[in-house]
Amino acid sequence: MKKIVIANNKGGVGKTTIASQLTYALAGRGHSVVGIDLDSQRNFTGAFEARQDLGNALELVISCQPVAADLQPGEIGILSGHKDLSAQNSDDVLVNTRNGIARSGGADFCVIDTPPSFSELVYGALLGAEYLLVPIELKKFSLDGIEGVLEAFISIQEHNSNLTLLGLLPSRFDAVKQVERDALVNVAQSFERLMIPHTIRNRTAYVQAQELGASITEIKTRSGREASEEFGAFFDWVYSRITGEI
Ligand SMILES: Nc1ncnc2c1ncn2[C@@H]1O[C@H](COP(=O)(O)OP(=O)(O)OP(=O)(O)O)[C@@H](O)[C@H]1O
Ligand SMILES: [Mg+2]
Repeated sequence: MKKIVIANNKGGVGKTTIASQLTYALAGRGHSVVGIDLDSQRNFTGAFEARQDLGNALELVISCQPVAADLQPGEIGILSGHKDLSAQNSDDVLVNTRNGIARSGGADFCVIDTPPSFSELVYGALLGAEYLLVPIELKKFSLDGIEGVLEAFISIQEHNSNLTLLGLLPSRFDAVKQVERDALVNVAQSFERLMIPHTIRNRTAYVQAQELGASITEIKTRSGREASEEFGAFFDWVYSRITGEI
């Protein structure tokens, strides 16, 4: 089971939206997918209410209980978020989260949504996973944290050499705003080799999909079609990075 962590220590950058759509897209390709919600806000869980319930993530981070899923091709199972997750910040939690995630199995992929701070939960997840995807926003001050995220990645990689940084994904990008276009150019210059060659634009269809708990491909408006096309292009890129297949 390949485990992909979606993380950034900035809030509201689109982590949960991208984690949800990535989960739907992997399932749409016929893969079984476990989604793990490590955020006490439970927004990721909320997008998958009708899916197979695999329990809650508190058991994993406190008792090191791994996910033992048994999913069919195209099926999604969710390890729900819990309101007490935000209070879990001991060294034991870090070790339990790492081992619980590393030992989880029973599906092709696992997508892990995280809270907006690099807590023990997030470090633990990254120590037990294979991939890190970092959504970034191009708003003022939102870029300040990128170096901190990269430093965290480097320090984790010393302990988990299996961890690959998929890259930085510009998210909620408002191409109409000159400041955001300028920010995209600047960030691409500063972090050239780490940039994912796709952007996720600011579109109402993403909000609708999240509220409905649906894949973006099910939003049949113009915004939905455009979002579906751009997310699909990003997904093809990430899928080929992870599987080596197009
Ligand atoms: N591409 C997008 N276009 C428009 N709205 C978006 C987009 N991505 C996310 N949003 C909206 O922005 C808000 C924050 O998004 P989301 O919850 O995905 O971010 P987050 O990084 O997970 O936030 P948090 O740090 O609080 O967990 C939500 O209301 C979501 O619907
Ligand atoms: Mg979130």
